[in-house]
Amino acid sequence: MRQATVYIDSAALQYNLNRVKQLAPTAKIVSMVKANAYGHGVKDCLAALKDSDAFGVACLEEALEIRDLGYLQPITLIEGIFSSDEMQIVIDQKIECVVHHQQQLDWLMAHKDAYIAQNLKVWVKLNSGMNRLGFKIHEIKDVINTLKAEGFTCVLAMHFANADADHPLNDEQIRQFLEVKNDCAPLMGSCCNSAAIYKYPELHFDYVRPGIMLYGATPFADRSVADLDLKPVMTFTAEVIALNDIQAGEHVGYGSTFTAEKDMTLAIVSIGYGDGYPRAFPKQNYVAINSQQVRLVGRVAMDMIAIDATGLNLQLGTEVELWGKTRLVDDVAEANGTIGYELLCRMSSRPVRIPQ
Ligand SMILES: Cc1ncc(COP(=O)(O)O)c(C=O)c1O
Repeated sequence: MRQATVYIDSAALQYNLNRVKQLAPTAKIVSMVKANAYGHGVKDCLAALKDSDAFGVACLEEALEIRDLGYLQPITLIEGIFSSDEMQIVIDQKIECVVHHQQQLDWLMAHKDAYIAQNLKVWVKLNSGMNRLGFKIHEIKDVINTLKAEGFTCVLAMHFANADADHPLNDEQIRQFLEVKNDCAPLMGSCCNSAAIYKYPELHFDYVRPGIMLYGATPFADRSVADLDLKPVMTFTAEVIALNDIQAGEHVGYGSTFTAEKDMTLAIVSIGYGDGYPRAFPKQNYVAINSQQVRLVGRVAMDMIAIDATGLNLQLGTEVELWGKTRLVDDVAEANGTIGYELLCRMSSRPVRIPQ
């Protein structure tokens, strides 16, 4: 059987959740498990995250998957509902909604009594400069005051555009958030994703919303998971399926982009972009074998890569770590001009998943 495997380390997931608790001891934790728990497989992650106060997902289908798996914690739909017929399901399943535009408000008002009777909070989204979702500062105070007057319990929600960096927009987003929170007091608040949890301890308020840090990857370009004291959760491995000796001047793979500088041994590993391994190759990329970094040569194909096994005495069946605890997903992402988030989220369903 082809051995492309994704191991999910539940202890690492729990460790990272505990890091959130240490960093934000007074806030409730909405663990972000959207996009199939950032590619880790939601069903393999929820048990380790069961002490979260709530889960955050992007759509009703993701929320219902959590309910089908038997988890009864509050769930927040971070983009709210997409059509009016979803409102009754949301109420029946005790799922909380973000509202970010007038149409969602109208749908909510039409179900006011049932929503409130289920003790569901409304997450009212402020557009403070990211310009994706939310009410602008000149409209949101009226929205919140009206909702409160109708008997709803509201949480002011905001998302940073640059939590991972020093950017002038951060101060403006914070200024707007605090103004609304104060002017509409008392009002619960939530504005911190992973990077902001580290960067803005004074802004944790009622709910923090960690995503990438739970999975042991970094939200920052210049801070590693070791700096942040997080543990990688996913280990992605494959096996050596062929060993070839080639001579100086010979080429490797599609496009013959690599030319051997010397006589060398290649190991062919059964992994490729069909599994979610990235093909973009602007910089030298590596895999890890027995904690040693080994370079890729030639292009990544759909099902195979080639690595330089010269002098390594590899065998057929030797296990290769594509990313995990030795070769960090953040470093693979960097070598491919992307971010760990993307590599994790676009794992294909082909590798076998093994929760540990
Ligand atoms: C609204 C919202 N909150 C929190 C998060 C979690 O962000 P991160 O994974 O950077 O912690 C996301 C992720 O995109 C989000 O969209």
